[in-house]
Amino acid sequence: MPDMLPFIDLQAQRARLGADLEEAMLKVVRGGQYILGPEVEACERALAAFAGTKHCLTCASGTDALALALMVKGLRTGDAVLCPTFTFAATAEVVAWLGAAPVFCDVESTTFNLDLDSAAQALSSARAAGLEPKALIAVDLFGHPAPLPEIEAFCAAHGLWLLDDAAQAFGASLDGRRLGGFGTMTATSFFPAKPLGCYGDGGALTFDDDGLVEPLRSLRVHGQGTDKYDNIRIGMNGRMDTVQCAVILEKLKIFDAEIAARDEVAGRYAEGLFDLVHVPRVRKGCMSTWAQYTITLPKGTNREAFQAHLREAGVPTAVYYGRPLHRQTAYAHYPTAGNGCPVAEDLSRRVVSLPMHPYLEPAVQDRIIDAARDALGAL
Ligand SMILES: Cc1ncc(COP(=O)(O)O)c(C=O)c1O
Repeated sequence: MPDMLPFIDLQAQRARLGADLEEAMLKVVRGGQYILGPEVEACERALAAFAGTKHCLTCASGTDALALALMVKGLRTGDAVLCPTFTFAATAEVVAWLGAAPVFCDVESTTFNLDLDSAAQALSSARAAGLEPKALIAVDLFGHPAPLPEIEAFCAAHGLWLLDDAAQAFGASLDGRRLGGFGTMTATSFFPAKPLGCYGDGGALTFDDDGLVEPLRSLRVHGQGTDKYDNIRIGMNGRMDTVQCAVILEKLKIFDAEIAARDEVAGRYAEGLFDLVHVPRVRKGCMSTWAQYTITLPKGTNREAFQAHLREAGVPTAVYYGRPLHRQTAYAHYPTAGNGCPVAEDLSRRVVSLPMHPYLEPAVQDRIIDAARDALGAL
């Protein structure tokens, strides 16, 4: 059996970044300001500049970024938050933390992102359950921007505020505008496997509203007032480590080039596979970060057999997501949009993600494409 290829090759990126990256981390170790050191503020300034927003607040993870956004807006029991069901659990988890209810919406089969017709139905489902719809969390799944201008208009029409969960899509753009400034706040994750990842957990919120800066900073450090021992809000310990901010500062320098390389990899996959499977297409005006390259197998294809065939050829695959949230034990009791979420259910049985990273050599990628074509021919 051939050696297994990496699904994401973080060591290739590390080799490219070389000694500068290690030096930046060592500088933090030597400097001793491990919590809220100078790299944290520098990282926040750089991320805000990159996203084109006035403000950025780093935090301990993408999950904490989402939670801080909901906390600062005072979400509470009786409130409903619309969100897609085809996403990672964190999107809905944070809503439930605050005693509010996620209301699950279906997604589009082509982009895997929120379907606004389903969101309109979800408003009625929420009200029928005695809940007050307050917000909508859009998700830019697999790095592809959700239809954010349309979602903003929907939110404005229905009195909702918008949180963009760009955990997988920091760096993506829509109509020439980077994600980060759509809606009231945008959350992102720097989990190592994300397109912009650090060497541990990390996350950030970007936003333009000056009024959010002070309460978000306070919530991030136990609801502090004049200091940590003056507690004026219920907060959390949600800071991002200085050393992780140093890593992000280094990785940001090559991020644009990496996004372009990911786009090339995606183009090569599409060329090699479009006649056999549904390949993801980028909507006009959008640039994806390709956090995942996710194909949709033809109806009836045995996905496990497809994955086993690729595994035999040394090609790892993954399924994001094998069960939509409204079908998960912890979330099944929350409301779901009117007629359920048939698209998400269908996708959850047919999607499979292929290795994706900016350092995938064409020859290696051809091997993956050949293996996928062989598998589909054999099934
Ligand atoms: C869509 C989405 N939201 C939120 C998160 C949470 O981010 P983190 O793992 O940094 O807490 C993730 C991470 O996988 C994600 O994919």
